[in-house]
Amino acid sequence: MNVLVINGSPKGENSNTLKLTNAVIEGIKENKDAHVEMLTIKDMDIKPCLGCMSCWGKTAGKCVINDVMQEVYNKIMQADVVIESFPLFFFGMPGPMKTFTDRCLPLMETYKGEVGTIGDNAFHEPRFNMEGKKLIVISTCGYGRTEEIYDSLIKEYNFISGKGKYEAILCPQGEMFAIEPLKPQIEAYLRRYKKIGEYIGRGEDIPKDLIAKAAEPILPQRAFETLVNNYWNYCEN
Ligand SMILES: Cc1cc2nc3c(=O)[nH]c(=O)nc-3n(C[C@H](O)[C@H](O)[C@H](O)COP(=O)(O)O)c2cc1C
Repeated sequence: MNVLVINGSPKGENSNTLKLTNAVIEGIKENKDAHVEMLTIKDMDIKPCLGCMSCWGKTAGKCVINDVMQEVYNKIMQADVVIESFPLFFFGMPGPMKTFTDRCLPLMETYKGEVGTIGDNAFHEPRFNMEGKKLIVISTCGYGRTEEIYDSLIKEYNFISGKGKYEAILCPQGEMFAIEPLKPQIEAYLRRYKKIGEYIGRGEDIPKDLIAKAAEPILPQRAFETLVNNYWNYCEN
């Protein structure tokens, strides 16, 4: 099994999201045949999409920009599972991750001009055969809950991939994963993510109750509020 991880946090190795994703990878690696490769977007020179639409016309299926993405397209095609890992920035994905996403246009079929109700379906079919390939989104946010906060990002993924065609593992209170004294709670929490990885590694669907559990806040709301307020007061003073 080939797993391609797209690490889209601009923070690097201290990324809260990456802590969760690394726990998932640990679980995946329980399958000794699993091969996991991680690409860290912030370290890659990915040029922004020019909007020339050549990948839908003259060079159908191919991007005219000759950069590292040419290699990434091949890696995506060879992957059985693609994991996109990034924090929520202003209710969407961070800029570098959006640049990566825009550059995935050559993988999509053309827009054929239909006007109608889209609902939660994808606007475009994939251009190439993606049969059996799984897309998993892992994200942390700073707020105390994921409900509503992630609505715009989820809508974006629904329009790109279609509801039910990908799995989103969303986690609130992301900054709590950087707090050293919370280590025991964090370790217990990460075990849920490792379990999710074990399902992925076995090629099985992730049980819905496990995804719901992964979205539970690590701290009770009151404790979270106190900690956050004390932290910012301390920083300001
Ligand atoms: C520019 C910026 C925008 C953010 N926007 C949001 C937001 O809209 N909602 C939210 O809950 N958290 C937001 N956050 C908090 C991050 O999502 C949160 O701290 C996350 O855990 C960081 O993950 P990382 O360490 O993997 O980069 C924002 C942080 C930054 C730096």
